[in-house]
Amino acid sequence: MADIFEKKESNVRSYCRSFPTIFDRALNAELYSDGTRYVDFFAGAGVINYGHNNPYIKSKILDYLSEDNIIHGLDMFTVAKAKFIETFDEKILKPRGLDYKFMFCGPTGTNAVEACLKLVRKNTGRTNVIAFSGAFHGMSLGSISMTSDKSSRAGAGVPLNNVTFLPYSNTMGDYKKSLEYIQFMLEDDHSGLDKPAAMFLEPIQAEGGVNVAEIEWLKGIRALCDKHDILMVCDEIQVGVGRAGTYFAFERAGIVPDFVLLAKSLSGFGLPFSLLLMKPQFDLFKPGEHNGTFRGNQLGFVGAVAGIEYLIDNDLLGTVNKNAKIIEDFIKSNILPIDNRLTYRGIGMIWGIDFTGIDAALSLDVMKKCFENKLVIERAGSSDALVKIMPPLTIDEPVLMEGLKILETSIRSVLKK
Ligand SMILES: Cc1ncc(COP(=O)(O)O)c(C=O)c1O
Repeated sequence: MADIFEKKESNVRSYCRSFPTIFDRALNAELYSDGTRYVDFFAGAGVINYGHNNPYIKSKILDYLSEDNIIHGLDMFTVAKAKFIETFDEKILKPRGLDYKFMFCGPTGTNAVEACLKLVRKNTGRTNVIAFSGAFHGMSLGSISMTSDKSSRAGAGVPLNNVTFLPYSNTMGDYKKSLEYIQFMLEDDHSGLDKPAAMFLEPIQAEGGVNVAEIEWLKGIRALCDKHDILMVCDEIQVGVGRAGTYFAFERAGIVPDFVLLAKSLSGFGLPFSLLLMKPQFDLFKPGEHNGTFRGNQLGFVGAVAGIEYLIDNDLLGTVNKNAKIIEDFIKSNILPIDNRLTYRGIGMIWGIDFTGIDAALSLDVMKKCFENKLVIERAGSSDALVKIMPPLTIDEPVLMEGLKILETSIRSVLKK
């Protein structure tokens, strides 16, 4: 059967090259291929926070389908949409003291990024925006202009303009250096920076290599945005919906962004569904000025409501914080001692083991060895030097331990230790 992909599917396919088997079933943190079981430490790049086929969310989606409810409604009013807005507002935003309006964009993360780019420019009348080293915001032309890695940018085919990249948090060492540099760029009239409409940032960079922004850096960026009348956008597409141990990854810093972008795990069930949250005063689009056929996936609304209920009823954020300690303890006690040139970083249920100190290329061998040992795990960061641990938040503890042990064994095998 694999032949059909080789013969007919575009060369652009990528993840299937890392995991060359045909998957047919999945439950929680386990994937199956013709009866062979794999532990999933990838979670669909952050889509499967609630586990594959979460039974509670699935039951709500099946009920919705069996009752002949609305499946596609453009952006017309539907019961599913009303329930989502009410639930998200009451259960997620209000308890956190947040007041945002909701804009439903095209189905995937990059659609929310594109809508937001237009909106920050419209709000300020400025063209330039700030993005950060290590950023990943998507692959369509606007979002790729704010995505930092060379190989993604190379595919754009046109010059990627109107974005200035500045150094993220502590990627240059101390986060204070980054803040000082950004302040200089904004305040010195000979810095050459065109005043930006907005700063787009991921509070934790996932694709960029599990870079967890310092709390003081996030606060510093908020303060600089306030001082200079620049809009602050938090892209929570990969690290939101509980992965950081808080619903939004920016919550750690006690800041309030002007715009928040969500997608991936928002629908609870792996369905494409993106959301742009904005402070009410920035809701400047005229009716239909930004449009699209698939805005507000109805099954996504239903799954998202069920997901929020599941998260609250099962104290999923508590579980993430418990698992964070299990993962970090394991890394410290079992992985770092393998070779003292290994480093790690992370928070909540997103962690990375960095091979830069030995040889960045080893991460590929480790990923392949893990797959041989039935663990699905991906790489990230500069030179892809980091192996990224990102299981579903719902993973059972024995399966989490099993995956961590496979990772340890695989690293030992590659490093011959
Ligand atoms: C932080 C972040 N923003 C935006 C995107 C783009 O989302 P999508 O691939 O759904 O368009 C991604 C995808 O990985 C992401 O991680």
